[in-house]
Amino acid sequence: MEKLPPIQDPRVLVGYNTADDAGVVRLTDEIALVQTVDFFTPIVDDPYCYGQIAAANALSDVYAMGGNPYCALNIVGFPKDLFPMEVLAAILAGGRDKADEAGVVIVGGHTISDAELKYGLAVTGLVHPNKILFNAGARPGDVLFLTKPIGSGTITTQLKAGKGSVEMIRNACEVMGQLNKAAAEACRQVGAHGCTDITGFGLLGHALELAQASGVSLVLHFDDIPLLPEAMNSVRQGFVPGGTRANRLHVAPDVVYDARLGDAEQFLLNDAQTSGGLLISVSEKKKAEMEQALLERGVLVACIGEVEDRRQAVIQVR
Ligand code: CO
Ligand code: CO
Repeated sequence: MEKLPPIQDPRVLVGYNTADDAGVVRLTDEIALVQTVDFFTPIVDDPYCYGQIAAANALSDVYAMGGNPYCALNIVGFPKDLFPMEVLAAILAGGRDKADEAGVVIVGGHTISDAELKYGLAVTGLVHPNKILFNAGARPGDVLFLTKPIGSGTITTQLKAGKGSVEMIRNACEVMGQLNKAAAEACRQVGAHGCTDITGFGLLGHALELAQASGVSLVLHFDDIPLLPEAMNSVRQGFVPGGTRANRLHVAPDVVYDARLGDAEQFLLNDAQTSGGLLISVSEKKKAEMEQALLERGVLVACIGEVEDRRQAVIQVR
């Protein structure tokens, strides 16, 4: 869309020219619509679990903008010669149950016949025009929270190769299927400055978007970054998705890694995530309040770094 002329319409509060998580359009002085769409090919074998993950992932971009998802539409590409209709029914049930949990109603959708299975949602959310959480909100003196462990890319690559344990599947499905709803509520309660969700570009790719939009540098502490169990093993065995390799190259000019962080650690930091957590920037003074707000809601509490004035390296990992 870089090739298209920029949006001129004054109703558009967030368009495609910033790297924000969703588009936002003013409806009235009190209400703006948050619009996003996301769909992908299966990352786990269980169709119900795949449906849940795809829905949680699509809803996440609304939460990352500070909004509340309101309604949604299914988007399906289905190879009817490869799978029985029960598979599609199970995927849609997973999506619907996850939407129910979010308080979102799926009001319809569209299915096409496709060589490869695809599922996701187009989501409409609501936000007050003054309460949008932009990528550009991080300020020097903030601390950074991450609300889910990373490593789902390497884990699902291992699972696809048929080399994973039942325990790994269960764990990955649980983490990827978890809504970012409670984390977003904590952001609103405490008054976070900025937020994005961690998905395909990995932790560093999305952190870089946040840092560049905000004109700041970030310091991350590797030992404080939560990892999925087995993720380090998985990467060491060579299960590194193509997207993860591309992400690492993409951020290289802007990232300085501590000398102790080798290939495995660097791949994990750039691992392409599906339905990852929120990366939240909040004033250092509110650190304890944020920890409490996350804890109360059963969300992972992980303070992984700080925001500093802009310097040469946009991100330092210590
Ligand atoms: Co996003
Ligand atoms: Co997205």
